[in-house]
Amino acid sequence: MAEVTLKNLCKSFGEDVAVDDVSMTIPDGAFVVLLGPTGAGKTTTLRLISGLEKEDSGEIWIGGRNVSGETPAQRDVAMVFQQYSLYPHLTVKDNLAFPLKSPILKTPQAEIDRKVAEVAEVLQISHKLDNKATELSGGEMQRVSIGRALVREPAVYLMDEPLSSLDAKLRTDLRVELKRIQGSLGATLLYVTHDQIEAMTMATHVGVLDQGRLVQFGTPREIYEDPDSLYVASRLGLPRINVLPADVFGGVPPGTTQIGMRPEHIRQGDGQDAEVMRVEHLGDQNRLHLTLKGHAITTIADPSTDYEPGAHIKIAPKNPLCFDADGNRIR
Ligand SMILES: Nc1ncnc2c1ncn2[C@@H]1O[C@H](COP(=O)(O)OP(=O)(O)O)[C@@H](O)[C@H]1O
Ligand SMILES: [Mg+2]
Repeated sequence: MAEVTLKNLCKSFGEDVAVDDVSMTIPDGAFVVLLGPTGAGKTTTLRLISGLEKEDSGEIWIGGRNVSGETPAQRDVAMVFQQYSLYPHLTVKDNLAFPLKSPILKTPQAEIDRKVAEVAEVLQISHKLDNKATELSGGEMQRVSIGRALVREPAVYLMDEPLSSLDAKLRTDLRVELKRIQGSLGATLLYVTHDQIEAMTMATHVGVLDQGRLVQFGTPREIYEDPDSLYVASRLGLPRINVLPADVFGGVPPGTTQIGMRPEHIRQGDGQDAEVMRVEHLGDQNRLHLTLKGHAITTIADPSTDYEPGAHIKIAPKNPLCFDADGNRIR
């Protein structure tokens, strides 16, 4: 497996800047998740690395080689697309075996059979090995297209929202599986998604994209606990971080115009008076929807609490995040 480095990568489509001066190192064996909303430049970044798209400027290095002049095949990357792409007339088994059947590789048949069986098992698709690709559900097709990347041992895996078309249960299972597979292969994996849960649970490093710019890169914990901006802070955390004008609680550094309080960073029992509007009983916790001076706030409480709508509680921020008028963090 290999390290991947992007240096000042830029790509525009006409007036539209898709990737804007992105520099980033994906360490050998890392599971890097690029997180951003639709249009942030995630797919374009992957297509540039794979060689399906040509950068306007900047460099791409894979395993110590500048690959900018190389074809997709020479780059030795395996990409899983958002839209699955299988050979419809082939069986699942033959679709999975296809990447190994290249005449250059000369993989022995026994080795092909072993790999296909192993990957099919991991992706819970063994019972469909003899079905034609057209006889599969959307989720099954996507699992086979992930499998086609996994049977290979490329320098790097590139995955474009591969779980987005799956149902919730399968998505959860495959999150755990992908993480396990990546760990056991020691694979370098760049995975793009708009799903913060996927970023938090699988990534060794998260890169946050905002309109083509990489606005922060760090461990999931760094991104969650120590965001550089309100944009980054708002990308992670469910329920979302509460954002309030700085003067609601006061006591903030100069230049602060707004504060961010994550639901779990709110102390109860002292501070400002808030009214309980709604309570959600989630089993392991109660989620409280409050209003304070007209501002909606979500916080969590112990499941044993029995607040009713209309109740009043006092709340205060615990280590709030402070931001200036442009949304930049004030530390
Ligand atoms: N082939 C293309 N032609 C024109 N514009 C494109 C093309 N591909 C992407 N874009 C534009 O580049 C921006 C980033 O797109 P994309 O990389 O697909 O974002 P994401 O995958 O994060 O949703 C968008 O504004 C999109 O419209
Ligand atoms: Mg995309």
